[in-house]
Amino acid sequence: MEKVTEKQLEKWVDHIRIYANNGKVADYIPALKRQNPEINAASFFHLDGECVQAGEADYFFTIQSVSKVLALAVALMNHGEDAVFSRVGKEPTSDPFYSISKLEVEKPSKPINPMINAGALAVTNMMSGKTTDDMLHEILDFVHLLTGDETIDYDKEVAQSEYNSAFLNRSLCYFMKQNGIITGSVEELHDVYTKQCAIQMNVKQLAKVAGIFANEGKDIETGEQLIPHHYARICNTFMGTCGMYNQSGSFAINVGIPAKSGVSGVIMGVVNDVGGVAVFGPALDKQGNSVIGVKLLEIMSRYYQWSIF
Ligand code: DON
Repeated sequence: MEKVTEKQLEKWVDHIRIYANNGKVADYIPALKRQNPEINAASFFHLDGECVQAGEADYFFTIQSVSKVLALAVALMNHGEDAVFSRVGKEPTSDPFYSISKLEVEKPSKPINPMINAGALAVTNMMSGKTTDDMLHEILDFVHLLTGDETIDYDKEVAQSEYNSAFLNRSLCYFMKQNGIITGSVEELHDVYTKQCAIQMNVKQLAKVAGIFANEGKDIETGEQLIPHHYARICNTFMGTCGMYNQSGSFAINVGIPAKSGVSGVIMGVVNDVGGVAVFGPALDKQGNSVIGVKLLEIMSRYYQWSIF
């Protein structure tokens, strides 16, 4: 298969810039409102170790919902499949990522999948650490392991801003606590969750993480199994069926790779056995996915024939 070259990527990133006008920067987390919609960046990490990038590839953004995939992998490795899926479902939903409605109508009342907020909160509640610091560090340590970069941390301002304003997510938690899906303090769970969402990376670091999911969970340089293959497959499947929320169906048709978006404007994509891709552009469509991110992945998938379907 033809490799992604820096020159080609730069051309596309330049070409899609204009599409940012069709979206809007997230404003329900006050600190995200300040993001510049004109910033864009992309990176592709080939499984032979070559990494190419374009745009503002050193720019640090918060990974937001992309962290849901990482927390899921940690929970699976800590507790196994049966324990995790006793608290969260495996089905896609056509509701928005913040929706509470299914929690009321589903019996038993567990979140429909781990990619929506309710499901991700239930997963973060499964971190084994006793303190909130330990729980956060389980996720951060995992990020350090995957990227090989121990300097990665979270953005304190974005975390605090979400912590101060996440009343809807707190409602999801109280609903789940009433139904026995989560245990312990809702405030403490929010402390961990808002910090995990505020983990800061650039597209190069995130493309490497995506590359590991494309490489059956193995480190790209050493071949070491960092995530058991079966769990990496589960994460990829959730990305493929639920990762783009209520746009997952059309994304599957137009792009056709496992991918996870975050409300900061990031998308991480997995091209199995080929490499990992990360795209950033803060202007979002109405489902909360990066407009230029979706556009670039559509162009690349068509050109390189990435679709798994
Ligand atoms: O919980 C939230 O609402 C955010 N921290 C993350 C949501 C998100 O990234 C949705 N993505 N498109």
